[in-house]
Amino acid sequence: MAFKIGLLGLGTVGTGTVQILLNPAQRHPLLQELEIYRVGVRSLDKARTVELPTDRLTTDLEAIVTDPNVDIVVEVIGGLEPARSLMLQAIAHGKHVVTANKAAIARYGDEIFTAASKAGVYVLLEAAVGGGIPVIEPLKQSLCSNRIHTVTGIINGTTNYILTRMQREGADFAAVLADAQRLGYAEADPTADVDGLDAADKIAILASLAFGGRIKLPEVHCEGIRQVSAADIAYAEKLGFVIKLLATAKRSSQPQPDAPEQLQVRVHPTLVPKIHPLASVNDVYNAILIEGDPVGQVMFFGPGAGSGPTASAVVADILNIAALLKLGRGCATQSDGTPLLDPLLACSHQHYCAIAPITDLITRFYARFLTEDTPGVIGKLGTCFGAHNVSLESVVQTDVRGDQAEIVVVTHNVCEGDFRKALDEIHAMEAVSRVASTLRVLETTESK
Ligand code: HSE
Repeated sequence: MAFKIGLLGLGTVGTGTVQILLNPAQRHPLLQELEIYRVGVRSLDKARTVELPTDRLTTDLEAIVTDPNVDIVVEVIGGLEPARSLMLQAIAHGKHVVTANKAAIARYGDEIFTAASKAGVYVLLEAAVGGGIPVIEPLKQSLCSNRIHTVTGIINGTTNYILTRMQREGADFAAVLADAQRLGYAEADPTADVDGLDAADKIAILASLAFGGRIKLPEVHCEGIRQVSAADIAYAEKLGFVIKLLATAKRSSQPQPDAPEQLQVRVHPTLVPKIHPLASVNDVYNAILIEGDPVGQVMFFGPGAGSGPTASAVVADILNIAALLKLGRGCATQSDGTPLLDPLLACSHQHYCAIAPITDLITRFYARFLTEDTPGVIGKLGTCFGAHNVSLESVVQTDVRGDQAEIVVVTHNVCEGDFRKALDEIHAMEAVSRVASTLRVLETTESK
């Protein structure tokens, strides 16, 4: 018996998925039991790089998710709607769902997984984070005996490509972004990538799996890379760092032993020590470093996007579901009639994680100021930081830009709230013309 796939979308990922499904040789034998039953597309007239019988294609996507013959709906159209509604309809019709849609899962995961648990179906999403890198299933299964304490990732290829080129070429953000758009590495509208929103969706999903609770996306602190300049990259280099857009989810240290646990979930450009394993992840590659007890550090590295890599993850999810269906375990029920799902594959949490405000973060900062080049300015900065409990590790004036002095400060571990209060006062100082940038610094010990 073949398992019937209803594929929604025949773009980059859909095409890669069909290419694997049509060419099962030397892959897992279960692939031969999958049938591309219907494929939902926006237009029937578009030229395709995969050959499918024309009667399989339809523009009626609702007909696919409600078709009684379809076993597994594969949603690779992306975006919020109609993807969300189609997934919910598929679930309501008893279909298992495979999706690559991080934006819809990060926003509507509660609704989608609640519906799936009720209907007794699986919603698998390996392709939603890290493209071809297996990280969702490892978090659910291979690492599930661990108490995870930190997930740190470079999970957006576009920004990693831009930052890598800025580093190598000494070029500024705007010039590299324009060239990346010309070369097809960045979207015409790069907002979701360069402003960190794509990485925020992905870290919300990873945090949810790592810490066993739902995450409210608006509580994820998110900063992109537009403020990172060639000057910052050059200073960071001299100080022994590279700048990466890091997405981090970790257990926050508890103010009192019996205080409720909070998580930090955040995306921001970060100075990463050159000796850190994430520092050498360059170009469009992604990597996710997971730290848990007792496993220690485990790093996953690979292509975070693209047709083949993302399809590799999509088809793995389809096979996981097909394997359960083959065993007759696709829709088991408990004695009280409620659905019984494999707890290592299905979502089993309903509560929301408490997220600590970013002002509670304890971290080191790098800051660059443009000031008057007059005696006493460094002293004023130091006094202001000191008054707010911000201890400085180093203060250097290495450059003069016109008649302006450029002063770079690196702090010890400080409370972000204190650092921001000091910055507010520094902003208002007559001698300071600009706070040119503030970036957080990852310590090799921060992740322990
Ligand atoms: N836009 C994403 C990135 C790829 O640049 O990594 C898909 O998740």
